[in-house]
Amino acid sequence: MASVWFAVVILLSIQQVFAIHRECGEFKNLKNCNDCIRCGGHWCNDPNEVKRCSRDRSDSWCKGKTETLFTATRVEEKGTLLSPKYILQTLEVGSRTSLNFTFPSKTSEQKVTYIVNSTQNSDFQVTKQTYCNGETCTTTIEAAPETTFCAADGKTYEYFNVKVSVGGIEESSEIKFHVPCACGCSEAVEAMSRTCNRRGSYSCGVCTCEEGWVGTFCEEPICEKKRGDVPCIDSGRNYPECSGNGVCGRCDQCECFPDREGSRYFDKDNYCADICMTINDCEQCLESHLPGPCQDCNFPLFNRPLNQTLLTYKDDFNRKLWVKCNTTINDCNIEYAAMRESNGETFYMIMNSCDPVTGEQVVGGVSLTLPVVLGVIAIAAVAAATAGYVVWKNRTPPMPLTDPMYQNIDAEDCTGENPLYKPPTSSFKNPTYGKW
Ligand SMILES: *[C@@H]1O[C@H](CO)[C@@H](O)[C@H](O)[C@H]1NC(C)=O
Ligand SMILES: *[C@@H]1O[C@H](CO)[C@@H](O)[C@H](O)[C@H]1NC(C)=O
Ligand SMILES: *[C@@H]1O[C@H](CO)[C@@H](O)[C@H](O)[C@H]1NC(C)=O
Ligand SMILES: *[C@@H]1O[C@H](CO)[C@@H](O)[C@H](O)[C@H]1NC(C)=O
Repeated sequence: MASVWFAVVILLSIQQVFAIHRECGEFKNLKNCNDCIRCGGHWCNDPNEVKRCSRDRSDSWCKGKTETLFTATRVEEKGTLLSPKYILQTLEVGSRTSLNFTFPSKTSEQKVTYIVNSTQNSDFQVTKQTYCNGETCTTTIEAAPETTFCAADGKTYEYFNVKVSVGGIEESSEIKFHVPCACGCSEAVEAMSRTCNRRGSYSCGVCTCEEGWVGTFCEEPICEKKRGDVPCIDSGRNYPECSGNGVCGRCDQCECFPDREGSRYFDKDNYCADICMTINDCEQCLESHLPGPCQDCNFPLFNRPLNQTLLTYKDDFNRKLWVKCNTTINDCNIEYAAMRESNGETFYMIMNSCDPVTGEQVVGGVSLTLPVVLGVIAIAAVAAATAGYVVWKNRTPPMPLTDPMYQNIDAEDCTGENPLYKPPTSSFKNPTYGKW
């Protein structure tokens, strides 16, 4: 008896397993091991097998990868008058078994009764039949747990007990049926599994994908919108699809690098364009060097005097607020630092330029906040300068760049100075702005 209870203790200690629903329907539609077992099927742990749950086990189906349910070692103990007096055996949902009990026919009463109890629903059939032959009677108890026996939160093993009594005999018999109600494999869950492309957890050969992914191996993204215009499908090809600042990711969208200089400003919705690319498009602003807002740009862009201290500022993620950029306009190298506020206002500070006039301005360090009046004047100056610039820009170059005499032109000695462009200091004298 001690060994029997020992076995029972082990079985009861098996961890609880939860399942989602309990409607069985067709076996081939059962997509999780617990449901399959509860419904009396066999489960296939091979993710490549199409039919995961099957009533029958054919030889060709799921070779060597079916989930094996632990079968309790059968125990049977003889009784003296009513025998056997104890039986422990496994009985799967959907199957049935018959057990014979014998007792002497000479007992005055031969009325056989049984009572049943269970750790689950009382959805099982038990029938009895008694035949007497000579000095011995045999009662056959037939038992079959139905597909509704296991509750949705059934444990790996559940039980139902049948206690058999015969009128006139003191001793009674007990049958303990041990019914698998869930899968052992569902207890071994591999989180962020490699099998599921690290996008889901894996157990019983099934990937449970995290949000945004579907597919047997969580390989298929759920896409709200596809990028569509440029194919962004080859993760090895990151340029020009993602501006060199990211790679093609799911849903044909660019996934920008999070850890580069300027990552803070990579525009996910615009092919990971960085702040330098965006500002470089506003050539006229970069060339003009006018402090304050620049009107020749399709977004709010402001020039401010160089302040080295600002270049050291970092955000909460230890990323530089100001990003160094450069560009070449008409053979003139311009180096500047840029940053963008959360409201979209973008600022730049010229660090180096081939324009000697600007060079002076940069070193001089202009007061940070410009008077509004000056801002307006500056805008006018930009407009005037721009008109002239267009004429100037379309001129024929005074000296061909291929001329060997002019090949080693240093950026600092850039000769392409716009004759019409004059920094505002020389055109406007603002009495409130004496520093200029
Ligand atoms: C149980 O008893 C019945 C009737 O006596 C007999 O036909 C059957 O073979 C027995 N079954 C087993 C498993 O002994
Ligand atoms: C169920 O039946 C078994 C065997 O007859 C008995 O040991 C157990 O105490 C019963 N459990 C309940 C809850 O009645
Ligand atoms: C640079 O900016 C910081 C912070 O705005 C300011 O405290 C400092 O005075 C500025 N330095 C110069 C030289 O303007
Ligand atoms: C920026 O400078 C680097 C070298 O310092 C140069 O290779 C690159 O072409 C420059 N970029 C632009 C846009 O001028």
